Amino acid sequence: MYTLQPLSYDYSMLEPFIDAATMEIHHSKHHQAYVNNFNKALENNPELQNRTPEDLISNLNTLGIDETTKTAIRNHGGGVINHNFFWSIMDPNNQPNAKLTEEIIAIFGSVEELKKQFSETALKHFGSGWTWLVREASGALKIYSTSNQDSPLTLGHEPLLTIDVWEHAYYLKYQNRRVEYIENWWKTVKLI
Ligand SMILES: [Fe+2]
Repeated sequence: MYTLQPLSYDYSMLEPFIDAATMEIHHSKHHQAYVNNFNKALENNPELQNRTPEDLISNLNTLGIDETTKTAIRNHGGGVINHNFFWSIMDPNNQPNAKLTEEIIAIFGSVEELKKQFSETALKHFGSGWTWLVREASGALKIYSTSNQDSPLTLGHEPLLTIDVWEHAYYLKYQNRRVEYIENWWKTVKLI
């Protein structure tokens, strides 16, 4: 049985950029539902239950399971790990990561340029999903979005940053103003 990981900070600690009510519903209701449905997806596959969700998502295409179970793991296991990663990116206790910042400057020219390209990608993404900064196997850094709960781990990419652009991540405070949500979300990111 997988259980919901507690946040390492209070729901109110991202105020005023991400409000406490959104954080509480997002973590205790939405994220919890992914955990519950992920456990359900593994009910009939005891051989998968001792593997981490990251491991299952990384090896999704070679698990040798039926399509229904595979889809359930992609959606709900993806929902579990994507949210865990998202909470960690916004952790107010994070310190700037000098190595990552240097890498970003080397590839994008500046942190501001990375933020601009990442924000544009997040704004343009149609429907529910996530926008990512990843490191590919070659070492290259890339920005792209995935739909639903699809994870870069399935593509063999290492996630470095992510923003949740599902409406449940911002609708309560920002309604349809995704651009304002993205701008304010950057203020919670202390890594770069
Ligand atoms: Fe979410």
